[in-house]
Amino acid sequence: MAQIHTHDVIVVGAGGAGLMAAIGAHEAGVDVALVSKLHPVRSHTGAAEGGINAALRSGDSWDLHAQDTMKGSDYLGDAPAVETLCRDAPEDVMQLEHWGMPFSREEDGTVSQRPFGGLSFPRTTYAGAETGHHLLHTLYQQVVKRGIRVYDEWFVTRLAVTDEENPTDRVCHGVVGYDIATGELAGFHATGGVVIATGGPGQVYDHTTNAVSCTGDGAAMAYRVGVPLQDMEFVQFHPTTLPSTGVLISEGVRGEGGILYNSEGERFMFEHGYAANSGELASRDVVSRAELTEIAAGRGIEDEYVHLDMRHLGEERITDRLENILHLAEDFEGVDGLEEPMPVKPGQHYEMGGIETDENGATCIDGLYAAGECACVSVHGANRLGGNALPELIVFGKRAGLAAAGADLGAARIDTGRTHRAEPCDSELPEAAGGQAEPEVVTDGGTTEPTNVVEAAIADEKDRIDRLKRRDSDLHHSDLRNRIQRTMTDNVNVFRTEAGIRAALDEIRDVRAAYADVSVKDPSSTFNTDLIQTIETRNVIDIAETIALGALAREEFRGAHWREQFQERDDDEWLKHTFVSWDDGQPSLWYKPAILEGEAGRYEPKERSY
Ligand code: FUM
Repeated sequence: MAQIHTHDVIVVGAGGAGLMAAIGAHEAGVDVALVSKLHPVRSHTGAAEGGINAALRSGDSWDLHAQDTMKGSDYLGDAPAVETLCRDAPEDVMQLEHWGMPFSREEDGTVSQRPFGGLSFPRTTYAGAETGHHLLHTLYQQVVKRGIRVYDEWFVTRLAVTDEENPTDRVCHGVVGYDIATGELAGFHATGGVVIATGGPGQVYDHTTNAVSCTGDGAAMAYRVGVPLQDMEFVQFHPTTLPSTGVLISEGVRGEGGILYNSEGERFMFEHGYAANSGELASRDVVSRAELTEIAAGRGIEDEYVHLDMRHLGEERITDRLENILHLAEDFEGVDGLEEPMPVKPGQHYEMGGIETDENGATCIDGLYAAGECACVSVHGANRLGGNALPELIVFGKRAGLAAAGADLGAARIDTGRTHRAEPCDSELPEAAGGQAEPEVVTDGGTTEPTNVVEAAIADEKDRIDRLKRRDSDLHHSDLRNRIQRTMTDNVNVFRTEAGIRAALDEIRDVRAAYADVSVKDPSSTFNTDLIQTIETRNVIDIAETIALGALAREEFRGAHWREQFQERDDDEWLKHTFVSWDDGQPSLWYKPAILEGEAGRYEPKERSY
């Protein structure tokens, strides 16, 4: 009989959002535990470089931050979420400071802030060019200090959710975890709530800034128990990644004054009119398209990249504010950033979409919450501004933890699930040929006894893992994952065509069908990466399909979503979110209007030029 660990709140994932959720729940006075496939300080938040946006200075204000964020989102952020983010961020950043986060400082001792793309005020607070690393350590110290239980290197592979027909009637009672060190399966029963904070799905693409651990696990698990995934077509491609590895070169370089040049030595952002006012500090979607347009026009270097030059900033400023960038350029490209320009090109960086939540992190399933990159609350809409991911982690991580612990955060303005505001999708989308397993809700005779639900979920998961290990075939997860990464990179990238997206969908569905034959060769129970990556690959497949479906449905050009045949933003038709739900063995698509009504009136969509 598998063991069941019981806590009031279970947080899955221990990056910035998960740690903050655990701290929030602890502050609400409940017993909370973190369950994470990585040790907390190895979480991908540690790779965040540039900084945290928060209106801290006179001359700035939360509502200016909100206006920038709505414009950056191409008017697809929901105003209640955006306003919550911008209002809460200053206090939460000050809290980090009080917890000892080593922010960079001015001569007078005040915390430094730098310009970032799409911001009308320099409001990006930072700790050198390794802000995420310091954030992670600061939060982990708080978790240790509070004695919060951490089950690290436990991979959560399934949610324990009841099987009512309508997802909004279902209840989440916990999760199933796989102990990476021993191969043991155990249940985690949450008497209060489960918070998913598992990060993004960057491994859907083959050139990404994301760690290999970023396989969209939480979003895929939530999807399979009936929670809709929202706005998945909006994938951010960061303009400055190292060509050979995808390693991030922070926007902080351009924030400090770094310049982009093409092979002709032209400062193309200005000289070719891509962003006549903001140049290198236009929003990321604009800069990424500009770089690829230059490369396609033959003005790239080695037909692959452009140059980012920071030499003119001088050694003192570079080592003070961007030292980490020097190490990354040297270690991964052999380039000395003090002496030479650095090669950069766009790479997948961030998923704007995710698990649909309200401003308190609640999903449409009772007892199930989400926060951070795996969630879509939605503050980023069609494009996230640089520096808005880390405040999202701390603001909504904390709120989700508090809400799961039963704290009263007030009624949410954003509705979740297929409410009266939902609209059907009329366009013909290609139907899947099948091949997906049954939804992962617990179907053991309709029991609603919470621990029975957890036990039944453990039994289902044990069967699944036994099947994977027993199966005898030559098909390896890496073949399938490579196919997904290739087709998504070729076809659902910065520039998208209908034929390309359809080709990607066909390939994803072939891969899904093939997954039924995948086998795990390594029979061992200790550190079985073959098994872990096979399980992750199914998540990669599910997430890729939702991205491609959203991309096919959205027939307009908005934010990061560029479509060859639809070169305009279409506010009459498309001021709405896409949702993909797993229904009756098929993904189904539907919509809800974006909420543009803020506290002081409507954020009227304007032309988005930089
Ligand atoms: O460029 C960067 O430092 C990344 C920041 C972000 O994605 O917010």
